[in-house]
Amino acid sequence: MDQRTHYCGEVTANDIGKQVTLHGWVNSNRDHGGLIFIDLRDRTGMVQTVIDPEKQPKAFKLAESVRSEFVLEVVGTVGHRPEGTENPNIPTGQVEVHIEKLDILNTSLTPPFPIQDGITTDEMVRLKYRYLDLRRPEMQRRLILRHKIVKMMRDYMDERGFIEVETPVLIKSTPEGARDYLVPARLYPGSFYALPQSPQQLKQLLMVSGMDRYFQIAKCFRDEDPRADRQPEFTQLDVEMSFVKKEDIFDVMEPLLIKIVEELSDKKLKFKPFPRLTYSEVIDRFGIDKPDLRFGMELWDITDIGNASDFQVFKNAPQIKGITAEGCANYSRSQIDELTEFAKKYGAKGLATIALTEDGSIKSPIAKFFKEDEIKSIIKKADAKVGDLVLIVADKPKIVAETLANLRNLMGTRLGLRDDNIIALAWVVDFPLVEWKENENRWDAAHHPFTMPVEEDMGLMDTDPGKVRSEAYDLVCNGSELASGSIRIHRRDIQNKVFKLMNYSEKEVQARFGHMLDAFEYGAPPHGGIAPGIDRLVMLLTDDDNIRQVMAFPKTASGIDPMTNAPSPVDDAQLKELHIKCVED
Ligand code: AMO
Ligand code: AMP
Repeated sequence: MDQRTHYCGEVTANDIGKQVTLHGWVNSNRDHGGLIFIDLRDRTGMVQTVIDPEKQPKAFKLAESVRSEFVLEVVGTVGHRPEGTENPNIPTGQVEVHIEKLDILNTSLTPPFPIQDGITTDEMVRLKYRYLDLRRPEMQRRLILRHKIVKMMRDYMDERGFIEVETPVLIKSTPEGARDYLVPARLYPGSFYALPQSPQQLKQLLMVSGMDRYFQIAKCFRDEDPRADRQPEFTQLDVEMSFVKKEDIFDVMEPLLIKIVEELSDKKLKFKPFPRLTYSEVIDRFGIDKPDLRFGMELWDITDIGNASDFQVFKNAPQIKGITAEGCANYSRSQIDELTEFAKKYGAKGLATIALTEDGSIKSPIAKFFKEDEIKSIIKKADAKVGDLVLIVADKPKIVAETLANLRNLMGTRLGLRDDNIIALAWVVDFPLVEWKENENRWDAAHHPFTMPVEEDMGLMDTDPGKVRSEAYDLVCNGSELASGSIRIHRRDIQNKVFKLMNYSEKEVQARFGHMLDAFEYGAPPHGGIAPGIDRLVMLLTDDDNIRQVMAFPKTASGIDPMTNAPSPVDDAQLKELHIKCVED
């Protein structure tokens, strides 16, 4: 085999007259009036090659047997394409390579789908033949962008004094709120390693070690049902820093994200610097802790007006809030019914609507229950204009928030307010420390149990735990959670208090977290960290709405890999060695 001189996509008019050696796959081959044209493709793009039977009878004979996706070595001289046949849309569009020597390095079966962009092939087939799917230029572009993002992260963190430390994948269970993947320990029958849900405890222990600034491109494993933005194994830029307050962590992460968006995409950042919003503010204004800030349509509150009215549903409701959908007053009865059904999915008992029609009248199934001035006050609160549709939900605050947040996202999509070219990043701070677990009848960590309570709320831990704010923060982007982190507890007394609040027994604490508490006795510095999800970040830049698109070898929505058929049964001997017996349910 000859040495490659050029990648296919890099042969340009500057190379005219040069002899080149190329390696690649046959994208297409055409027989044109005696000449054979072969478009040769590699990672960088495609170049047209041509064989003249008069000049190269031997190579021509071989070229006649070439089929799509054969692997070729081509030696030839770069020439101008004949006038009128240039393709201005590709970098190699001015040239063609006149083949002098052709070698077939390998043949190929006909692929199950075309190796090109924009195919509509079923995803199961694409995943079964993922190696072919990843041969398509649009998938290669995704992997290359992902590489650039990770490289930018590594360089950036290195420049700021962070040390990358690899942490083990076989560890003790670390709670992050999901189920663990367990690995049986052959040498210890009945005992298991857990795959880390994140390197959370290890990075904190590295702070006790005095590493000061740690990062890792870390694989995390969580046994939960995959979703559009969730995979059982995914990657974080995991970060931890000593002697910091949350602003110091924002000051490291914010410029990195700005740099990634501005240097690696054409998208516009809506906010610079990123706004800092409190949890209670975002719940109040958007009904959700990961609001899409690309558009307004904020929630407003008419609990006082509704409670004072004679409409039974509103009179007794704990909370009444709504949103105003601009220009939707002409929604038909069935469109309103459809929105009502949507609202009911989130627990709402109904959806009250007021349409301010173009002829100046009001169309509303609830108008009859209200005095004229009450309706006027509602419209005023809703800041609704002629042509708008007012949507109202009355219920417990949790249901009101969840229903309206989802309605807002739905209407935002319908009205084209969620512009893919805009990236709206913001910090959400002051999350509650704990949330009530109804089925377990206890308080549990809202983030994880190592999160520091806000100093001035410490007193509330005994009296009103639900009100205690934590030093946890999220970075939200276009309606999804991109990163999560917190300042940690570094003192044993506070940690014990938090464990107690969460109803962990002394024994349980020792068994699960004893090593952490012990470590904190040996001069643990104050510390905190964060972890942006890399897959989700790539998704934002590639406009993908499915996380599988930005991972080389993902699992399907039902958690399998159709290419290798994992997970799969193992033989009895292997199980025996691991002291494992499978029983049917
Ligand atoms: P958390 O659990 O919030 O925090 O995760 C941080 C970020 O990781 C991404 N992410 C996921 N991406 C794809 N698939 C999943 N199943 C998945 N789960 C999470 C999200 C999320 O914002 N140890 C803490 C961080 C810290 O406190 O420093 C942690 O893991 O983008
Ligand atoms: P009803 O009294 O059940 O006929 O409801 C009158 C109107 O109020 C209908 O448009 C319902 O969709 C709406 N509605 C009922 N319950 C609620 C609720 N909890 N919140 C908002 N609107 C409601």
